[in-house]
Amino acid sequence: MPCPFLGSLNQAFVRNYGAGLLKQYGSFCPALTRGFRTLGNDETKCPFIQNNGPIISEAPKEMTEDIKPEPVGPYKYDSFFHDQISAKKKDYSYRVFKKVSRLAADGLYPAALEGADNRRVTVWCANDYLGASRHARVQDAAVAAIRSYGTGAGGTRNIAGNSQMTEKLEAEIAKLHDKPAALIFSSCFVANDATLSTLAKILPGCIVYSDAGNHASMIQGIRNSRAPKHIFRHNDPNHLRQLLAESPAGVPKLVVFETVHSMSGAICPLEEMCNIAHEYGALTFVDEVHAVGLYGKHGAGIGEERGIAHLIDIVSGTLGKAYGNVGGYIAGSSLLIDTIRSLAPGFIFTTALPPPVLAGSLAAIRLLASEEGRSLRAKHQAIVRYLKLSLLVAGLPQMPSVSHIVPVPIKGADKVALVAESLMKRGHYVQAINYPTVARGTERLRFAPGPYHTTEMIDKLVAALIESFHENDISFNQFVENGACRECSMEYKMDIAYEEPYKYPMQVA
Ligand SMILES: Cc1ncc(COP(=O)(O)O)c(C=O)c1O
Repeated sequence: MPCPFLGSLNQAFVRNYGAGLLKQYGSFCPALTRGFRTLGNDETKCPFIQNNGPIISEAPKEMTEDIKPEPVGPYKYDSFFHDQISAKKKDYSYRVFKKVSRLAADGLYPAALEGADNRRVTVWCANDYLGASRHARVQDAAVAAIRSYGTGAGGTRNIAGNSQMTEKLEAEIAKLHDKPAALIFSSCFVANDATLSTLAKILPGCIVYSDAGNHASMIQGIRNSRAPKHIFRHNDPNHLRQLLAESPAGVPKLVVFETVHSMSGAICPLEEMCNIAHEYGALTFVDEVHAVGLYGKHGAGIGEERGIAHLIDIVSGTLGKAYGNVGGYIAGSSLLIDTIRSLAPGFIFTTALPPPVLAGSLAAIRLLASEEGRSLRAKHQAIVRYLKLSLLVAGLPQMPSVSHIVPVPIKGADKVALVAESLMKRGHYVQAINYPTVARGTERLRFAPGPYHTTEMIDKLVAALIESFHENDISFNQFVENGACRECSMEYKMDIAYEEPYKYPMQVA
């Protein structure tokens, strides 16, 4: 019989607070207290067993005498691991990393040497979006830092790793995001995980509101905090509002989402989501990993481009994508940054970023904040648009991305891997994206062209894609059905896919 008390409450509320409710009000419940009184803690007082006697009698001796207990040997670790790997291979989600060494020299970038025989291929899927990793100023800064300070930091920030360069880089990041302070981590995965797990754990009674499309690093941080969470539909401010409206007032809350989605290229309604969060007294934690360096006058991301960076309470970014190095960061108020610096194990107990990475990142942030950065961003957006239009003209499918990420849906982990393989044969490297990075059935090739790709390269890529689709029997001429992509079922609106997202003058290199 359903409980009339719990049944009148919202299901999500019961899921999150059920244990506490039971503890607090259980003793008032007539059904529960009756059960406790009858059974007590002694199962021998069970009225059923008392009336009916033992249910299972012992087996006769002749049935059991030749049954020998299995000898208990050590646990079979290898057979466990073998089963795990076999399951991944069976559902085609087992990953085989391609041997791809990206070249940095002028005139060669964005080429790479592939496979054992070092074949030359064009790279289409690197997140070194603007080629900062091979920019002379970034390289020179990293090399000079190695010569002066060596290759490693020599310890945690507390012991040997707090160089002047570390502090300079944090000051530069704070300035970029127009925040009082910033803190760097060994990666943005660590930054997201360490910050969210610490914050949601220490804020008393904190409730987290997490976008359904969030990156694994944020999901991990929220899980590690063990705080109650609500998941709102991807980029859906109405659903966020609905969930927040049901939340208790006066309780700390975190609303967590990313601006540019890493796998679909969608951009969130940032202003609306931040305003709703603030209306209900929540802090906003916004991941700008796929936007920093790429959007806004100084490359600070979507917040800067839309003039609403102040609505983001905690911004996280990476030094490993558009900034061409490695590492991650958060920026926010001085007190918040000091709290994470003082309490987050993922920050405290690990070796600091090394000198070449600090110097390289500092140079890359300055480069992309400059006029040259603005010119690279303009070329980037122009070449992205050229690829989107070329796919459209060729009748190839593409998800309706408004950003620089161009996903081509090919349903089935086996199919998408075959097309990627066919492209590699033709001199184009793009990684097949499958589960667990994206949901099963939404597999895709994710293209990220940059300012150093040329229109001729794109023409060759599109020709190779057409051949690869044919080679693997994938039809594509009618990919839009009833206004949605036949492969990924996403609504397909031409005006969204080709909306002008960028304000600077366009020119192709
Ligand atoms: C949205 C998002 N956030 C965070 C990260 C982690 O960044 P990093 O590569 O610096 O660990 C990634 C990495 O792919 C990402 O896509």
